[in-house]
Amino acid sequence: MSRRILLKTEVESLPRHVAIIMDGNGRWAKLHGHPRIYGHQKGVERAREATEFALEVGIEVLSLYAFSTENWARPQEEVEFLMKLLEEYLAAETPVMVEKGIRFNPIGRISQLPPSTQRMVLEAVKATDNNQGFTLNLALNYGGHAEIVDACKKMCYEVQRGALTPQEIEEVTLEGYLYTKGQPPLDLLIRTSGELRISNFLLWQVAYAELYFTPVLWPDFDRVEFYKALLDYQKRERRFGGVRD
Ligand code: FPP
Repeated sequence: MSRRILLKTEVESLPRHVAIIMDGNGRWAKLHGHPRIYGHQKGVERAREATEFALEVGIEVLSLYAFSTENWARPQEEVEFLMKLLEEYLAAETPVMVEKGIRFNPIGRISQLPPSTQRMVLEAVKATDNNQGFTLNLALNYGGHAEIVDACKKMCYEVQRGALTPQEIEEVTLEGYLYTKGQPPLDLLIRTSGELRISNFLLWQVAYAELYFTPVLWPDFDRVEFYKALLDYQKRERRFGGVRD
């Protein structure tokens, strides 16, 4: 499926920034008689597919929620497996991202990840640093509250060293300290698996985003499902608090 074929008449109203809460790996595994970790393995394949699709259709930024600040509460075995999976993903995908022109931008408190994972994350950032046109925000140890707290802290340090005054602080100032600095606003947030929650993902950025909830479990969310979400988005009327013409 290419951008030309699929969105022939709708390219104008394509979202620039899409975020996905990839939920339902565990339930999918259970449903198919497998351990939870098998669901995560399938989930990684879908994350690859979603990235490829977003790049093909011409989305500029894709934000994927891979690991939240709350996910450390999972059984240690599962957390360790997820970190291993992430390392395998980075080892395989970094050269692909370099080749395809994908900029890898991890979002979250990266310094709290295991050292070996951190190293690979930073290598991927460095390797794809010159890429432009498409950015993959991979949320790792990410929390929306934590992101806003970190942004406030950074602003406070700027005030402390005299580079900023409290009077100068506007919404756009704070935006400049978020992980999504300089990126297009979030247009569409997708959540799979039927849960109707934001779960602390991109709390600031979600303000005017369109929300798309689907019962499909993440390991079943293929490019056709992604395409359906885009079509649904294109039917929405976005007013940003204003009125219709
Ligand atoms: C939700 O399923 C998924 C996660 C907690 C994150 C894991 C995501 C992946 C493995 C896919 C992408 C990963 C990378 C490295 C790109 P769940 O376990 O909460 O499912 P459940 O709600 O059915 O239990």
